[in-house]
Amino acid sequence: MEGCVFRSRNDGYPAGTSMAFQDPWLKPYAPIMHRRYLRYRELCENIDNYEGGWDHFTRGYEKFGFNVVSEGIIYREWAPNVTSASLIGDFNNWNRNANPMKRNESNVWETLIPHRSDGGLGIPHNSKVKISMTTPEGEVIDRIPAWIRRAVPESDINSTYSGVFWHPEKPYEWRNAAPSKPENLKIYEAHVGISSPEPKIASYNEFTENVLPHIARLGYNTVQLMGIMEHAYYASFGYQVTNFFAVSSRFGTPEDLKRLIDTAHGLGLYVFLDIVHSHASSNVSDGLNKFDGTDQCYFHSGDRGYHPIWNSRLFNYGELEVQRFLLSNVRFYASEYRFDGFRFDAVTSMMFHHHGIGVGFTGNYAEYFNEQTDDDGILYLMLTNGMLHNIFPNIITIAEDASGMPGLCRIIEEGGIGFDQRLAMAIPEMWVKLLKEYSDESWNMGYIVHNLTNRRDLEKTIAYCESHDQALVGSKTIAFWLMDQEMYQNMSIQSPMTTVIDRGLSLHKMIRLITQGLGGEGYLNFEGNEFGHPEWLDFPREGNNYNYHYARRQFNLAQDSLLRYSKLNEFDRAMNLAEQEYKWLKSPQAWIYLAHEDDKVIAFERGGLLWIFNFHPTKSHVDYQVGTGSAGSYKIVLNTDDARFEGHNRVEPHQVYFSIPGERHGRPQYIQVYIPTRTALVLTLRPE
Ligand SMILES: *[C@@H]1O[C@H](CO)[C@@H](O)[C@H](O)[C@H]1NC(C)=O
Ligand SMILES: *[C@@H]1O[C@H](CO)[C@@H](O)[C@H](O)[C@H]1NC(C)=O
Ligand SMILES: *[C@@H]1O[C@H](CO)[C@@H](O)[C@H](O)[C@H]1NC(C)=O
Ligand SMILES: *[C@@H]1O[C@H](CO)[C@@H](O)[C@H](O)[C@H]1NC(C)=O
Ligand SMILES: *[C@@H]1O[C@H](CO)[C@@H](O)[C@H](O)[C@H]1NC(C)=O
Ligand SMILES: *[C@@H]1O[C@H](CO)[C@@H](O)[C@H](O)[C@H]1NC(C)=O
Repeated sequence: MEGCVFRSRNDGYPAGTSMAFQDPWLKPYAPIMHRRYLRYRELCENIDNYEGGWDHFTRGYEKFGFNVVSEGIIYREWAPNVTSASLIGDFNNWNRNANPMKRNESNVWETLIPHRSDGGLGIPHNSKVKISMTTPEGEVIDRIPAWIRRAVPESDINSTYSGVFWHPEKPYEWRNAAPSKPENLKIYEAHVGISSPEPKIASYNEFTENVLPHIARLGYNTVQLMGIMEHAYYASFGYQVTNFFAVSSRFGTPEDLKRLIDTAHGLGLYVFLDIVHSHASSNVSDGLNKFDGTDQCYFHSGDRGYHPIWNSRLFNYGELEVQRFLLSNVRFYASEYRFDGFRFDAVTSMMFHHHGIGVGFTGNYAEYFNEQTDDDGILYLMLTNGMLHNIFPNIITIAEDASGMPGLCRIIEEGGIGFDQRLAMAIPEMWVKLLKEYSDESWNMGYIVHNLTNRRDLEKTIAYCESHDQALVGSKTIAFWLMDQEMYQNMSIQSPMTTVIDRGLSLHKMIRLITQGLGGEGYLNFEGNEFGHPEWLDFPREGNNYNYHYARRQFNLAQDSLLRYSKLNEFDRAMNLAEQEYKWLKSPQAWIYLAHEDDKVIAFERGGLLWIFNFHPTKSHVDYQVGTGSAGSYKIVLNTDDARFEGHNRVEPHQVYFSIPGERHGRPQYIQVYIPTRTALVLTLRPE
C-alpha cells in the first residue's frame, strides 16, 4: 500500500460528481461536489508527496507517543506553542530536569530514554508518565501525552488521570481470524461497564465470558462497543473522550480487550468500535484541551472550537497534525485491536458549522450545500473513509447522521463521503411518536410503511427501533412505553396475563419484526432491549449520588424461563436466525402492496418471503386475502403469536397456505390467512 488510491471513473461526468446526475434535484450542486472532490485529491496528493503516503501518514502512532526502538524508548509529541518540554514520571521521580525534550522545525518534541545497563527498558512497564511543558508566559503545565495508550486515575476513582507507559513483555497472541464480512449486519450495541446485572462496573473479561455467548446465541453477527476510548467521566457514556489511543482502564487492560475481540471473532462476530472524532472532552488535566497551553493546538480557537451544548472541544480538521492524529487513531484501532468496523459518532456536528443544533432538515438539498457546510469536517470524513477502505478492504464504516446528507454512503469517486451505511435515526422517533401520541386505533399504516422505507436509493441504512439513546434516563424504551409499572409485577408466567402485558409483548415483537423486515439493509439492537429490559439507564454521577443501580443490564431476567422477558428474548433469536437463513437484509427493498387503514394490515414481499402484519387492537381477520407474486404453497417461517414467544398459539404452526389464481393488490395470486389481532406472520414458499 503506497499512496492514496483513486478508482478512476470513466463515466463522462466531471470527477467526483456522477451521483449528482442520477438525481435532477442534486444536479445544481455538481460544481460544489466537483470542487470538494478536487480538494480531497489535493489533500491525498499532499500526503503522498510530503508525508510519505497514506500508509506512512496513518501510522503516526509508530512515530508519536512512546515507541521502543533498538537504542531505547523514543517519546515524541507535537506541541507548537511551548518553549520547553520534558518527560516526567515514576521512572525519573517526576524530575523536570532529568529528561528534557528537543524540538524540531515541525514543532515535534523528542527525547530518547536509553535502555538500562542490564538491557531493561528505561521506563518500567505500567508506570506513570506525563509531559511537562513551559508556555511562553513561563507557566509550567503538566499533561498526559496525547498518544498515550493507557491512562488511569492518579489515586482513587474520582481523581484526575495519569498517563501510563504500557509495554507488556509478551504481546497478546491472537488466536482467531475475523469472520468474513457480513452483508446483512445485525448489530448488538453494547457497553462493557453496564453489562452485568450487578450494580458495578463490569470488566472486559466478564463481557467476554458472559455476554459474548449471549450475543452469538441470539444470532447477531456484529457487536458494537461503546465507551471504549478512555473517558475520565464515566457518566459521559464514553462520549467525552480524554485519551484517544487508550482503551478505558475501568474495564481492564488492553490485552483484556484484545481477548474480548479475539473471542468474538472466534464466535463468528464482527466487532465495531463506536468512535468519537466529532468532539473531545474539555477537561484540561485529563484530556487534550489546552494541550500546549493555548486554546488551539488540536482544536479551533475561540467559539468555533467549542460545542455550545456538549461543552466539549471541536477539532480543527483542516490542520495536518490533527489529520495525522485522528487518521492514525482509526488505523490504530483497526490494526492494533483488529476492530472490523467503526460507527462514527455525531457526524452531523462535524459536517455543519451549526452542528445540527436547532436546524430542521427538510430534505431540500440547499440545506446541505451552503455556507453552513463545514468542508474541513467533510473532507476529514472522506479521508478517513478513503484510507480505511483502501487499507482494510473488509472494514465497514457507519455514520450516525441526523441530517440526511446526500451521498454520505456513496463512494467518494461518485461524489460521496464514503461511508458504507448510515443509522436510520428517524425510525426510533417514529415509534416513540406513535406510542406516545396515538391510540392504537389511530396508528396510520401508510405512515409506518413510508417512514420505514423512505430512504435514499443506493445508500444503505441500519434500521433500529431504539438504541442507547432511548434507554438513557430522561428517555423511555419501547418496553417501558408499552408496559411501564406493570413490568414489576406481571412479567412472571405464573401471574395472569394482563391486557397491558399482552399488548406490550405483542407490539414489542411486531415493532422489532417490521423494523428489521422493512427498515433497512442492516439492523441494530441495544443490549437488553432484545428482552424488553425494564427501567432506564443512568450512570453514577453527582445528581444520583453516584448510584450504580441503573448502570447495569439484568441479563438474569432473560435467562429465567419463568419470566416473560425470556420469551421476548427467544423471539429475538428466532427473528435473527430466520434472517440468517433468508438474508432479507441483503435483499432489495421490500415490495409493499398493502397498508390498509381500517383493517390495520400491512403486507409486503422481501427476501422471497411474504410478510403480513395485523396491528388492529381488537380485530382478528379470518380468510384474509393477501396478494402474492408466486404460485405454490406457503408455510410459516415466523409467527409472533407462537406460544414459545408468549403468544396465544391461535395460528396452527404447521398451517399450509395454497395460492389461488386471481389478482389481489396488484399481484397475480393470493392466499387466504387467518391473521389474529396484533400478530405478524412471515411465510415462505414451500419447495415443490
Ligand atoms: C502558536 O504557534 C503558532 C505557530 O506555531 C502561531 O501561529 C500561533 O500564533 C501561536 N499561538 C499562540 C497563542 O502562541
Ligand atoms: C520532526 O519530527 C517528526 C517526527 O519524527 C518528523 O516526522 C518531521 O519530519 C520532523 N520535522 C523536521 C522538519 O525534521
Ligand atoms: C467518589 O466521589 C463520590 C462523591 O463524592 C463518593 O460517593 C465516592 O465514594 C467516591 N469514590 C471513591 C472511590 O472515592
Ligand atoms: C477534570 O479536571 C479537574 C481538574 O482540573 C478535575 O478536578 C476533574 O475531576 C476532572 N475530571 C472530570 C471528569 O471532570
Ligand atoms: C419518520 O417519523 C419521524 C417522527 O415523526 C420523522 O421525524 C421523520 O421525518 C419521518 N421520516 C420519514 C422518512 O417519513
Ligand atoms: C399487574 O400490575 C399492577 C401494578 O402495576 C397491579 O395493580 C395488578 O394487580 C397486576 N395484576 C393484574 C392481574 O393486573
